Amino acid sequence: MKLTVVNHPLVQHKLAILRDKHTGNKEFRELAEEVTLLLAYEAMRDLELDPVTIETPLTTMTAHMLSGKKLAVVAILRAGLVMVDGILKLVPAAKVGHIGLYRDPETLKPVEYYCKLPSDIAERRVFLLDPMLATAGSAVHALSILKRKGAQQIKLMSIIAAPEGIRRVQETHPDVEIVVAAVDSHLNDHGYIVPGLGDAGDRIYGTR
Ligand code: PRP
Ligand code: URA
Repeated sequence: MKLTVVNHPLVQHKLAILRDKHTGNKEFRELAEEVTLLLAYEAMRDLELDPVTIETPLTTMTAHMLSGKKLAVVAILRAGLVMVDGILKLVPAAKVGHIGLYRDPETLKPVEYYCKLPSDIAERRVFLLDPMLATAGSAVHALSILKRKGAQQIKLMSIIAAPEGIRRVQETHPDVEIVVAAVDSHLNDHGYIVPGLGDAGDRIYGTR
């Protein structure tokens, strides 16, 4: 299924600062939000439009406004939270769902601890937010939850992906389009993306 790598110069510039280990928590959060906004611009390129008649100060014209299915953004906690505000700047009317998962450090398998989704998720286009697509255990688990709840049109947005994670999503959920800012080299023995940016949750919230 389709993979979009948004390698716009602005995205590459911001990503370089995000990756730098000297970048502090506040700047990291701001940049992650900005990169998400730029990813969303591409991820939402196929939103449907309807013609509408409007009056400019000079004349009447046919313009175009968003139509079709309403939107939902779903963040995988914790780190996915940082991406929500970037998207809501573009589509403030989107509903927001949260899926709480953490990766067991030994098995690298996702452990679910929370799930709250819009009740009409099945009628919405869904954008799933997970900044790091590493083994894809978290994303695949979240995609299965969303589909069980009836979501049909889902895009996965990540800031950095590993080739292993992309392959796994494509094998398990071939209908899901993936939009990322970068595809890195590989996963290390602890399931971290190399070169990556480290632990996204820790860098966002200053934990460790
Ligand atoms: C991180 C990251 C992703 C997940 C990716 O979450 O935010 O959700 O790992 O790894 P995977 O593709 O191998 O599943 P983490 O478990 O560190 O939880 P956190 O967001 O609460 O810090
Ligand atoms: N989760 C992260 O936050 N970073 C990685 O590199 C892999 C998983």
